[in-house]
Amino acid sequence: MENVYGNHYYRLLTFKEELENQISRMEQTLEAFYDTNIIDHVMGRLKSDESVLEKCSKKSIDPTPDNIVAAIHDVVGIRIICTFVDDTYKVRDAIRDFSGIKVIEEKDYISNAKPNGYRSYHMIVQNKEGYYAEIQIRTISMDTWAALEHDIKYKKDINVNKELITAELKRCADELASTDISMQTIRNMIYGQM
Ligand code: GTP
Ligand code: MG
Repeated sequence: MENVYGNHYYRLLTFKEELENQISRMEQTLEAFYDTNIIDHVMGRLKSDESVLEKCSKKSIDPTPDNIVAAIHDVVGIRIICTFVDDTYKVRDAIRDFSGIKVIEEKDYISNAKPNGYRSYHMIVQNKEGYYAEIQIRTISMDTWAALEHDIKYKKDINVNKELITAELKRCADELASTDISMQTIRNMIYGQM
């Protein structure tokens, strides 16, 4: 099979599957411990050839398989969608304890949202073979927002109302964040602080 990853392809796929398996075991452990739902769903993907090539051209990287796996840290991407805000940090803590990987970088866009309103917790991890993966942890509402914002960003023909759309998106992001906190508070009232 021809793709941008060359002979790294199957090892990248294996890395993705290993992460998904570890996350699935973590989900079972966390949910048994807290006796409630912590993770809504998990999505894993290898970056498409098209977006790898686009990123290489942006970063002025010659897109050889070796360069790609060394320079692009989200060729393996995992998104973990949690039910409540506090759960994102439980998942983060559990991933820090995963065996066989090292956490290279963390960005907390949940405590520090991006100016456009984007919220998510990002971790870059590396396995023993040296491959990188990006893990994004967020709530259902953060995920819904990011999907909408992503669609709008890539719809290049939207020129009308651009400022209005940007402002409305930001307002929605802040309202969703505030609702996420209220929902968390209600859960804590039901279950106690978890
Ligand atoms: P890039 O992957 O090159 O953007 O690296 P970076 O250093 O800017 O990483 P960052 O952690 O900011 O973003 C990594 C990924 O998070 C992106 O590829 C997106 O999937 C997601 N992301 C970051 N910012 C936004 C945003 O404003 N909106 C949406 N929808 N997704 C975002
Ligand atoms: Mg970016």
